[in-house]
Amino acid sequence: MSDDRSVEAAVRARRSIRAFTAEPVPDATLEAILSAALCAPSGGNLQPWHIHVVRGDTLDRLKSAMRLAHEAGESEVPEHAIYPESLWDPYRTRRFQNGEDLYRTIGVERTDKAARLKQLSQNFQFFGAPVGLFFTIDRRMGAAQWMDLGIVMQTVMLLAVEHGLGTCPQAAWALWPDTLRRTLNLDADMMVVAGMALGHEDKAHAINTLRTTRQSADEAVTWHG
Ligand SMILES: Cc1cc2nc3c(=O)[nH]c(=O)nc-3n(C[C@H](O)[C@H](O)[C@H](O)COP(=O)(O)O)c2cc1C
Repeated sequence: MSDDRSVEAAVRARRSIRAFTAEPVPDATLEAILSAALCAPSGGNLQPWHIHVVRGDTLDRLKSAMRLAHEAGESEVPEHAIYPESLWDPYRTRRFQNGEDLYRTIGVERTDKAARLKQLSQNFQFFGAPVGLFFTIDRRMGAAQWMDLGIVMQTVMLLAVEHGLGTCPQAAWALWPDTLRRTLNLDADMMVVAGMALGHEDKAHAINTLRTTRQSADEAVTWHG
């Protein structure tokens, strides 16, 4: 039941893209993706999300601010914890494996901290994508509303597939709340949950050869009755 246009095909085709070409994404495409994504459901129809689209001058300014911050060895107090402290198994092993697989695609050894940090810092250049999205939420919202926001993010990612575009969701941006507050002009109540790079995949780049694995339905699903 999965032809090229099916939801299943998009779900299976989506993967995180970490190198993009400079080819621009037309405004009409962005508008089509974002307006459709806003059809996502939310508890009580609160729609507790806001999406910031960053491109052009603003994108350039943010990217150079991030380059300078990294060169100066700066850091900020993270907006939220990306992972629980000291992850336990099986999550710890999965995360470790994911990192190993990612760095292997670009020939970076585990011991090569500098090369790893350099790759990590690519997050803050949106991996070369011409569009950066930020998903914000009112900090008074709870886990249920964060779930709503995750649904919107996945909806954006699937619609991007339909438009032949790649994405990478980026919790890493939670590490830079002050810079983002200034860039996006956020009210004190609003916080960035995650960013997302969006654009055309650089198909020649080794990092995009990464294919991640998943648990089987036997492992992840329990049937009752
Ligand atoms: C909420 C969320 C945050 C993520 N944050 C980052 C990130 O900051 N940087 C990054 O390179 N990948 C990030 N990822 C991508 C995951 O590593 C990726 O989804 C996972 O390894 C599965 O691979 P796939 O997306 O290619 O299927 C994030 C994914 C999600 C869902």
